Amino acid sequence: MSIVPVAAEKHSSPPKMSTLVFIFAVSFLTIACHAAPRGQCKANRDNTVSYTGFQVWTITPHSKAKQSTLMKIIRHYNLEMWKETNEIHEPVNIMVPPRYQKEIRLRLEEVKIPYDVEISDLQKAISNENPRTNASAANPKAAHQMDWTSYHRLDDIYGYLTYLADRYPCRVQLLNVGSSYEGRPLYVVHITNSTSPNTPAIWVDGGFHAREWISPALATYIIQQLVEEPSNAKLLVNVNWYIMPVVNPDGYEYTHLKNRLWRKTRSPTGSSSAKCQGVDLNRNFDFKWGGPGSSSNPCSQVYKGPSAFSEPETLAYSNFISSKSNEIKLYLSLHSSGQLIMLPWGYERNTFPSDYDEMLTLAKNAACKFRKFTYKVGNKVDLLYQASGNSADWAKSIGIKYVYSVELPINGFILPASNILPVSQDFFRAMDVFAAEVSTLSAV
Ligand code: ARG
Ligand code: ZN
Repeated sequence: MSIVPVAAEKHSSPPKMSTLVFIFAVSFLTIACHAAPRGQCKANRDNTVSYTGFQVWTITPHSKAKQSTLMKIIRHYNLEMWKETNEIHEPVNIMVPPRYQKEIRLRLEEVKIPYDVEISDLQKAISNENPRTNASAANPKAAHQMDWTSYHRLDDIYGYLTYLADRYPCRVQLLNVGSSYEGRPLYVVHITNSTSPNTPAIWVDGGFHAREWISPALATYIIQQLVEEPSNAKLLVNVNWYIMPVVNPDGYEYTHLKNRLWRKTRSPTGSSSAKCQGVDLNRNFDFKWGGPGSSSNPCSQVYKGPSAFSEPETLAYSNFISSKSNEIKLYLSLHSSGQLIMLPWGYERNTFPSDYDEMLTLAKNAACKFRKFTYKVGNKVDLLYQASGNSADWAKSIGIKYVYSVELPINGFILPASNILPVSQDFFRAMDVFAAEVSTLSAV
């Protein structure tokens, strides 16, 4: 087996708060509720956060005036948006806690903004999302437990990566690039079929945001296809791959065990409130850190952290990518959802890298390969929102040629496991286009 530690010690940093405050916060948390959403404090019998009665509404404002009224309502109730757009004729999705539903319904009716209930009971949707999670392990004797018909715990994912490194020692190396805040290993899979030192590489990551389960599922699917599917051998001709399927393993486990809709990491921030824990890793990068689209409030979903690269996850990630910045020619960071392929810059509107058009052409060619889902291609701020300190901007800033972040299909964070294969198979088609372009470049 080949698990190679990559300077793990050097980059691991101690917790940023005093032990006292930490102990206080932890004991307070166990008395209070586990990370209740938006100040709600409801727990299921097994002490997981309950979303019973929560709904997701789809609202299309259709006029500037109604759009601004809608935004006022969203801010007033501190509602979380699951989908946003500047386009007045396109729908936004919001998550509405039961206690506000009546009031908000009245307000919307008053100003004649129609809405649809897209998810009538979020807890039911969550319970139906991953039918196999509660079933006993399929076959404990199998070489690994991974498949793409259900979402898997971190152990299954890491078990599969270890299995691949054992089974295919020449093609697969499992690189341990650091540890998460709670001490879980951070793994990058290196897939190669080439002996030349100048082979260019493609980077793929998933699981930045804990609740975006389809992204680690797709990242591991890409690994599986590249390693175990002989007909994909052409994708390894003069192209190496570095794939990090779970950037935020602490958050990912937390979404399986306590709160399905957790987004950030699990590091303490000094606040005793459950939802004020953790940093948004995708606002913690050392490029335009702390600008618009990020927050210095630990309770925010886009909390930037106390300093750039304050988190062991972003530090390990950026150290690893920096060490391969001559090799890596294409960067893909997988999120959900929205069906978007987004290009830098994300920190400011109407600001573009000088080779934006080249990036755009390649992304459009890639998007043409999709048959099942349609993706929009364009600038991140135009398609989604401003996000200072995001990882893709940082990747572009250190000179990576083609940089994309992706919002996968379909809608929202709760995607029934039966969609994993359709989404993954469709997305994988684009790998041809990316690999063909990268194989013409040389690592320098
Ligand atoms: N993955 C996205 C993010 O990084 C979420 C996209 C959809 N949600 C939204 N609020 N627009 O924030
Ligand atoms: Zn995300």
